[in-house]
Amino acid sequence: MTKVDIIVIGGGPGGYLAAERAAGDGKTVILIENRKLGGVCLNEGCIPSKTYLNSAKLYDYARRSAAYGVITKEASLDHQQVMSRKEKVVNTLVGGVTAKLKNYGVKVVYGKGSICEKTTDGIVVEVANAVDQEVDTSTDASTNTVADTEREIFLSDKVIIATGSTPIIPPIPGLREGVQSGFVLTNREIFEIAEIPKALVIIGGGVIGLEMASYFAQAGTTVTVIEMAAMIIPAFDQEISNALLKELKKKGINFFLSSQVTVVKHEAGGQGGVVIYQKDEESFELAADYVLCAIGRKPVIEGIGLEKVNIYTEKGAIVTDDYLQTNVSGIYAVGDVNGKFMLAHTAYREAEVAVKHIFGKKDFMRYDAVPSVIYTCPEVACVGKTKEQAEAAGMIVKSITTSFKYSGRYLAEVDKGNGFCKIVVDTKRDCIVGVHMIGSYVSEMVYGVTYMIEAQTPTLQIKETIFPHPTVCEVIREALFEL
Ligand code: NAI
Repeated sequence: MTKVDIIVIGGGPGGYLAAERAAGDGKTVILIENRKLGGVCLNEGCIPSKTYLNSAKLYDYARRSAAYGVITKEASLDHQQVMSRKEKVVNTLVGGVTAKLKNYGVKVVYGKGSICEKTTDGIVVEVANAVDQEVDTSTDASTNTVADTEREIFLSDKVIIATGSTPIIPPIPGLREGVQSGFVLTNREIFEIAEIPKALVIIGGGVIGLEMASYFAQAGTTVTVIEMAAMIIPAFDQEISNALLKELKKKGINFFLSSQVTVVKHEAGGQGGVVIYQKDEESFELAADYVLCAIGRKPVIEGIGLEKVNIYTEKGAIVTDDYLQTNVSGIYAVGDVNGKFMLAHTAYREAEVAVKHIFGKKDFMRYDAVPSVIYTCPEVACVGKTKEQAEAAGMIVKSITTSFKYSGRYLAEVDKGNGFCKIVVDTKRDCIVGVHMIGSYVSEMVYGVTYMIEAQTPTLQIKETIFPHPTVCEVIREALFEL
């Protein structure tokens, strides 16, 4: 039985970064992955959606370019080309992760990892169906020709669980059957559609739903979003949510809020189907070529041996402390599997904190300044508390809302843009506790304010800092003079 310093289960952002950091500091590391390195983020989440959305943005610009004095022939969007570019981008990034792990000397074992027991010698982890190369999930498993060494056992004093999350499929009649027949898609299958559908119904007006709605609406699909809550992106600031709704409606996306899908109908082998939803106790029917189910994700905690060592879970997620330790000493859980923030960038940071704790280095996880970005057009980026959340936490706050129209660059570059930012300042501590923005460039601007919140930078210090001109970010500094 091979004994190593650290075993990482799961090769997504949390897992591969933990492996890289640990191996980079001289530890022997085994990384177990049962699909593809890079996980959901690289293969079927963040990166594929960003390549799609960039094409949608360019297409949108091309169609509106006359307003900027640029006359083009009629623009069109070639979905097949968008797909193949996405493949190239994903393969480059997955190749980069693979190469980096190799350079660091991390041994990657493909197969299903699970914890067997904890002995006086260490934690025993087995890999079922272990193969010596990446599992090709695009083909039938029976045609996979790689040598199957079946079961490998490893031993370590430290294990990092980074098994990620999977889409929630609620018990709506017909929905599960729809997933099986290919009528209902999740974030994985949506990237496999080779033709632009005529009609797409999206269940869930959250991050995935809206990003996919933006791409397909731009590509010519009639998109309808059915959202259970009274607003889209309910976890975000209400004004930002309202503004995004208005912009997305302008792009032709249909929204039904406060609505519940009650039945999904699809005949096996047939084309398209029907979605029945209820609003104000009335039932409505919508025909669709496909349905995208995007109502949230749940941690992957099944089949990884948690019960063998009695790891605590709560509401379907592994319970972790500020150092990402589980209740079992030596076992850590980073990324979506601990259910705290299902975001790749949080997983990165958690991985670093866990590895540092293993090395006995000082650090701990803080969740006060976790940025969230939605890459729609316009983009949304938020970090920290909303005014309501800050007040509920007992802070005395002032909120300043400023239009991006005060930015010369924004006005010069974004025709008819209605972007704005809302800054929430804790007046007692004189520091920013939340920033909520909608408009071009906000996805890249948010890191600056994240740092200000994290560092609790006094507003005077921000005002005394020179921001570049003309930029959109200078609006943040200017807004603070209104305090
Ligand atoms: P989400 O939690 O962002 O949104 C789910 C939405 O579905 C909510 O608005 C909720 O009210 C609604 N909903 C729940 N049940 C429903 C029902 N039965 N009928 C209609 N609506 C219903 O989840 P989503 O979009 O699936 O994303 C999953 C995770 O992936 C999130 O944690 C998200 O942050 C992350 N993600 C992040 C991205 C980014 O950072 N840009 C991109 C894509 C995903």
